[in-house]
Amino acid sequence: MTANQSLKPITTKINEKGHLEIGGCDLVELADKYGTPLYVYDEATIRTIAKEYKEAFSAYKNINMLFAAKAFMTKAIAKIMDSEGFGFDLVSGGEIYTVHSAGISLAKSLFNGNNKSYEELEMAVELGVGKISVDNFLELALLNNAAKARNKTVEILLRVTPGIECHTHEYIQTGHLDSKFGFDLTQVNDAVELILDEYKNLKLVGVHAHIGSQIFETQIYYDEVEVLLKEISIIQEKFNIKLEHINLGGGLGIKYTEADCPPSVNEIAEKIISSVHENAKKYGIEEPHIYIEPGRSIVGTSGISLYTVGSSKQVPKGKKYVAVDGGMADNPRPSLYQAVYTADVANKPEDEHSEKVTIAGRFCESGDILIKDIELPPLEEGDILCIYNTGAYGYSMSSNYNRVLKPAAVLVNNSQSDIIIDRENYEHLVSLDRIPDRLK
Ligand code: LLP
Repeated sequence: MTANQSLKPITTKINEKGHLEIGGCDLVELADKYGTPLYVYDEATIRTIAKEYKEAFSAYKNINMLFAAKAFMTKAIAKIMDSEGFGFDLVSGGEIYTVHSAGISLAKSLFNGNNKSYEELEMAVELGVGKISVDNFLELALLNNAAKARNKTVEILLRVTPGIECHTHEYIQTGHLDSKFGFDLTQVNDAVELILDEYKNLKLVGVHAHIGSQIFETQIYYDEVEVLLKEISIIQEKFNIKLEHINLGGGLGIKYTEADCPPSVNEIAEKIISSVHENAKKYGIEEPHIYIEPGRSIVGTSGISLYTVGSSKQVPKGKKYVAVDGGMADNPRPSLYQAVYTADVANKPEDEHSEKVTIAGRFCESGDILIKDIELPPLEEGDILCIYNTGAYGYSMSSNYNRVLKPAAVLVNNSQSDIIIDRENYEHLVSLDRIPDRLK
């Protein structure tokens, strides 16, 4: 079992007070000290899965691990992943800036995205982002200009759509042919020709794809490697150049509920490595450097959200709604993807789960439901609800909907807790607002 197959952070326990504890910290005390809603991240879980990735791929000589910053990015997380030897898959100026301002070199990182602005491309070139995954024809021209203006040559991968469908939510599938991302395989020849003939400040070094997210199948990674290696063999033969890198994207799933059975990191690594061995031989090319870009599987399981229980409503002959002090603004995944979560009550985790309730958020929409029909101990005002597996795409997709303040995030480890993101205050909230003179 690897950490992505655990339903809870790996240090989760019930302590002598009968409270839930993570990273040696009592969750009721954390709620009291830092307030709720609160994101709590377990450093041990993050480092364990990072090490599991490194171990699983150690059988292959040329492997580069990039952490997909979109899953959760703050300066502290950047420090942890850097110290584990990961580079970063970055998709915006903001993500680039975060890593850079944490004092981390960008040389191992990759800039990716389907509509990078010229300013972002300039920033990537200037700050020395190691590789850029170019998504489309416009970007080839823009990036070449940005590099030329600085007298630099930039190493690029071509993002391609491999035509592989995975069975995940439609919004998080990416590798199928009708996708907004990347060059269709039929466009690759034209792109390579342009790079070689016109874009002298771009050096093509490989190809990149990403099939989707929250993936439970392993065979599609095998297939993805085959598509990319075949493409490399075609390009090498036609243009007489050498491409040494393939980037397989991220996507490994995590266990949100008991019913979820994601594969282990080892199973994915074995599929990828065996496909590289077999298909490099099949297509007569050298074994490439492999890049992988996990996001969710690195931080998803490590993070939980704490909420305080408030009002409740029993609909006559219907559901019982119990409301908490957060909701769709700090975790939009249930309303966006019908994502299902599990929870415990941090102050009474051992009480019998004897009541079926629906956990509602505090935002002004009927769709603001965090968990539908979950069995929990009877909830009372002031109870602390712990929702598991909110570490990925929770904070990173959060908003200030209803002008509600964004929660704080703390990192726990060995009984110590440290703030990694401050709770917003009302001053932060209005700090960018301006009143035009004529309205004063
Ligand atoms: N690489 C590329 C090019 C990607 O587009 C993504 C995710 C990743 C890596 C990381 O994938 P992961 O290992 O996290 O599955 N907001 C959605 C997920 C969107 C994923 C977008 N791309 C959600 O909350 O489920």
